[in-house]
Amino acid sequence: MKKIVVTGGAGFIGSNFIRYVLNNREYSIINIDQLLLSGSSENIREFSKNRNYRFVKGDIRDFDFLLKFFQREKKIFGVINFAAQSHVDRSIIFPKDFMDTNILGVFNLLEILRRGFFKRFLQISTDEVYGDLKIDSKEKFKEDSPLKPNSPYSSSKASADLISLSYHKTYDLDIVITRSSNNFGPYQFPEKLIPLTILKALKNEKIPIYGDGKNVRDWLYVEDNVRAILNVFENGKRGSVYNIGADNGISNLDLVKMILKILKKDECLITFVKDRPSHDRKYSLDSSKIKRELKHKNIFKFYPTLKKTVEWYKENIKWVEKCIDEDFKKYYIKNYKERLDEKN
Ligand code: NAD
Ligand code: DAU
Repeated sequence: MKKIVVTGGAGFIGSNFIRYVLNNREYSIINIDQLLLSGSSENIREFSKNRNYRFVKGDIRDFDFLLKFFQREKKIFGVINFAAQSHVDRSIIFPKDFMDTNILGVFNLLEILRRGFFKRFLQISTDEVYGDLKIDSKEKFKEDSPLKPNSPYSSSKASADLISLSYHKTYDLDIVITRSSNNFGPYQFPEKLIPLTILKALKNEKIPIYGDGKNVRDWLYVEDNVRAILNVFENGKRGSVYNIGADNGISNLDLVKMILKILKKDECLITFVKDRPSHDRKYSLDSSKIKRELKHKNIFKFYPTLKKTVEWYKENIKWVEKCIDEDFKKYYIKNYKERLDEKN
């Protein structure tokens, strides 16, 4: 059985990835996570006793910790790096955290790879590295489109992509990268638009829409992303980048209205607030490469999975309280209140 390390496996996509792999494949997984904010032990409780799974609390910014860990653990085949600071709004307030984890953390993992402690490295990246498109543009970003990131978050992710590709070329290391569009599904931390909208609507609280709400995101059900990531890890060509999109582009305003309709809530909950600085207008990916080369096919439809996600949050409302800590409450209440105040 192949032994792999998943970093950031207590977060949204990482925990869904581990759940999927343990249920469907034969891998022994070690999850290294710092359990920071969006990374919660609640997300991994369900499989914490699985004999093919182990959790190690650790920080990818800490090279000495990583070196000791990899010296101790033998025969690790590969590492899939989900660990990141992932929220654009937070990157505008606390950019240093993003540079430290998203750039230096990846550099540390690459240095461990260069020392021969494992063979294959998959860096989880994002469509945000390409920058944005005009609302009426028909263009789609391809893997070789120029990188033009606009936020501290996306520039930190683009930096990690470039460093990873340089390590592949310079040291002939086995490295692959995935760039997906916006994910949604269970266990997503409620700082992101979909869970935030569901939870605010359930409490009949105002739902903040940044700017005019016409910004477009392409929503990908997390299990389709997880299936694609596993495919790239197993079959992706060394040194290659793979886009993973869903062709489900929808404006934020229409998406929020759709969620309110599912919940049978009034649209008067929608509140337009101050826009995010340098707010990307639209993302759209050309995912033909992964379809053609790796025969990947998304299997989930947007509306039924959105409904399923709404149901999951209704049934797991206690999960939210368990994973939100006092620091986050203070940050979020401040951010949310300031946005509402500044608009008025
Ligand atoms: P998330 O914020 O839910 O999870 C990130 C995880 O990383 C958390 O468990 C956190 O504790 C952990 N972490 C953070 N800093 C760490 C550190 N220094 N050391 C160890 N662990 C650390 O994020 P997510 O939405 O699951 O995203 C996972 C990856 O996918 C990220 O790299 C993100 O950039 C990328 N991505 C996300 C989306 C999306 O829509 N959510 C889309 C495209 C790409
Ligand atoms: O595109 C992939 C990226 O998607 C990932 O790389 C990031 O990790 C992930 O956080 C996500 O980034 P976004 O900024 O697109 O996601 P977020 O859910 O924060 O915002 C989605 C859109 O909704 C965006 O246009 C901003 C808007 N928004 C967001 C929040 C939280 C609002 O209008 N109101 C809100 O309260």
